[in-house]
Amino acid sequence: SCVGAMPRGAFIVFEGLDRSGKSSQSQRLAASLKDKGHDVKAIRFPNREGPLGQLIDAFLRKDIDFTKRTCHHLFSSDRWEKQCEIQAAVLSGTTVISDRYAFSGVAYSSGAEGLPLEWCKNADSGLIAPDTVFYIDVSPEEANRRKGYGAERYEKLEIQRRVYSSYMHFSTQPYWHAIDGTKDIDSIAAEVCVKAEQVVSSVAASDAPVTTLWD
Ligand code: TYD
Ligand code: MG
Repeated sequence: SCVGAMPRGAFIVFEGLDRSGKSSQSQRLAASLKDKGHDVKAIRFPNREGPLGQLIDAFLRKDIDFTKRTCHHLFSSDRWEKQCEIQAAVLSGTTVISDRYAFSGVAYSSGAEGLPLEWCKNADSGLIAPDTVFYIDVSPEEANRRKGYGAERYEKLEIQRRVYSSYMHFSTQPYWHAIDGTKDIDSIAAEVCVKAEQVVSSVAASDAPVTTLWD
């Protein structure tokens, strides 16, 4: 790379079932990396603000219905709308941390809605690929025991079981890091932070190009 060129930032994604703790862990990681002096941008999908997010929010609250394939494309479009922002941040040296991404799209639409997995993947094909995915691994039964399942679509044990097994489609990918989500919140945060810092430095050092899904 050119002398003086800014090393790019890493793109880190958190995935997991509802109630797995991924939202807390993604916030914890963003705060820790900021404390260590990194530029960090935290995002989440679905992004409930904005025109698409309002439709998705109403859909999840069961205020409106869409056909299965339409809802899949809504979640996917929400990600496409954010691509320029993710790309610009990463290229300017900012680490982007996302709470859910295309892996949720595939796991929920194929697991919960029963859509063909390859069809689901197509909608997200070409999105910016994360450098790493932290899969906060909590069984559907354990997630169900935790308080706070709400009344939203998908927040049911039998649905979460199907989502869990769809997520396993990705479990052998090199970017996939399963983290035991039953440990205490501080140990998980510490483990994630160590791994995330390794990713941030290796991405910066190798000047690895930004790649796209589903490479
Ligand atoms: P969730 O992470 O629970 O967001 P919040 O913290 O705002 O409640 O995500 C909401 C739901 O949307 C969750 O059940 C997973 C589902 N979902 C999909 O079905 N497809 C997707 O592409 C994404 C990103 C989420
Ligand atoms: Mg939720």
